[in-house]
Amino acid sequence: MNLFTEASRNAQIVDTDLLFVGVISLLIFLLVFTLVLLFAVRYRRGSAAKRGPLPNILKREFEIGWTSATVFLALFIFWWAVALPAATSGTPAQPLEIHIYAKQWMWKVEHPNGAREINTLHLPENTPVRLLMTSQDVIHSFYVPAFRAKHDVLPDRISMLDIYPTRLGDFHLFCAEYCGTEHSNMTGHIIVMPPDGYARWRDTQPHSDSIAAEGEALFHSLGCSGCHDPASAVHAPDLHGLFGHSVPLQDGRIAVVDEAYIRDCILMPQKNVPAGYPPIMPSFSNIVDDSQIERLVAYIKSLALREP
Ligand code: CUA
Repeated sequence: MNLFTEASRNAQIVDTDLLFVGVISLLIFLLVFTLVLLFAVRYRRGSAAKRGPLPNILKREFEIGWTSATVFLALFIFWWAVALPAATSGTPAQPLEIHIYAKQWMWKVEHPNGAREINTLHLPENTPVRLLMTSQDVIHSFYVPAFRAKHDVLPDRISMLDIYPTRLGDFHLFCAEYCGTEHSNMTGHIIVMPPDGYARWRDTQPHSDSIAAEGEALFHSLGCSGCHDPASAVHAPDLHGLFGHSVPLQDGRIAVVDEAYIRDCILMPQKNVPAGYPPIMPSFSNIVDDSQIERLVAYIKSLALREP
């Protein structure tokens, strides 16, 4: 493994972009530098070169020519950089979702079946993976050079990072945001395994209930089910089949129900009141912590696939 190791689809895209822009820059540099040299020699003091003004027509055509050429070149680079990742990534229907909790100064990882690890992240090869990341204190940044992937991890927010590992091996994980005394030690390993090997590894790890099952238990113990159960007498939204859909809000906005939306609803219920419901839900901001919110979100997400 070296600086040039490409271990994900994104790595290949980023490297192609970089090479392309690098080659174009080099060509432009060579052109300008050659002309500078050429003119310096040709029009040096005392040379016999002709020095009168250019014919007008030539001046105008040159001007139009190089201006439009560079505009088209810049537009092409812009289109290339935007279109290429968009065409190859695409949102996979069912990415493997892994939770990452950053804190001073370690990376905590939780797999969908509840298996946990610290400063190590096992991933299956050739599988779409979505990391759902949050910080328990300050801003950190999840950085894996071999994946060409870097994403800030913020407190009170869930950041998402899609990864498609394409190479088996052990890769470095860094924190790329200065986060305190031990920032430089906030490192880890990404271990990419064959998919069946990953499944076997995950099942042999000590694990508790799945994250969604723990969320369901919380949903009852915190009293959420008292209102949100379809059989409840309280007029509260039924959460079955909700995740991933749009809901109209009281103030006329339309919100998409995703991780961030559910998180906001739990912590700041008055921010997004669904149309047709009274704003009676209390805030749970002093009651639940980040890992509990992720469990509740995982449970509500799993309800999207179930009938009431
Ligand atoms: Cu965490 Cu730097």
